[in-house]
Amino acid sequence: MGVPALIVAAGSGQRLGAGGPKALVGLRGRPLYSWSVDAFRKADSIDGIFVAVPPGQADLFTEPDIVTVEGGETRSHSVANGLRAITAGSSPELVVVHDAARPLVTPSLIDAAVAGLEADAGLDALIAAAPVTDTVKRVGHEGIVAETLDRSALVSVQTPQVFRVEMLRKALASGDLASATDDAALVEAAGGSVGVIEAPSGNIKVTVPSDLELAAFLLEKNQ
Ligand code: CTP
Ligand code: MG
Repeated sequence: MGVPALIVAAGSGQRLGAGGPKALVGLRGRPLYSWSVDAFRKADSIDGIFVAVPPGQADLFTEPDIVTVEGGETRSHSVANGLRAITAGSSPELVVVHDAARPLVTPSLIDAAVAGLEADAGLDALIAAAPVTDTVKRVGHEGIVAETLDRSALVSVQTPQVFRVEMLRKALASGDLASATDDAALVEAAGGSVGVIEAPSGNIKVTVPSDLELAAFLLEKNQ
């Protein structure tokens, strides 16, 4: 049985500043979120694509064969709403959560993440992450560097993120949804074990306008 996917697309895209929901911004002639939908459609491990959309805007999400769910105030609220919709109709063991803002996700990364969690009973989640290439410093009082972190132990976290549904549900129920920047952090806070799977550096998130240009370039190159 395939794993359901939840693509979160309910953000307003303040930093992109396009004047409308980021998920609907045009990228190579199609809405941003549709690139992710395509990748999930092509992934063999996936069965069922749910999309968390900005409240009142479901009509604008016209990709065929998706289930739209009203998103929430923060990303984690959108995930919680989506998970409720997914588990209302079935009882899957795993779920994949992905940002609509990452249009370069590939079917092979999705399938590898699902297979990786299926193969490791000791993990509650498996998340895509890339090695950090910049030196990272912690800045303390008055803008003075307090320490230089050991880069070899750092990763930059992305999506897709695959979860055991029961663990994610528990983590969302007990966690601080307003301050979490990803759901894996909620699982960690709930005592869960989160593994990482290396993602290609091209799996960028569209956050600011220049990201949109880079995404268009990378998509063209991949074709
Ligand atoms: N997201 C969501 N519901 C929210 C906030 C964010 O579903 N209430 C989704 C976004 O649509 C996006 C992903 O979470 O696909 C990652 O969030 P981010 O890149 O921060 O997108 P936005 O919140 O839309 O952008 P910004 O923070 O610049 O407003
Ligand atoms: Mg945001």
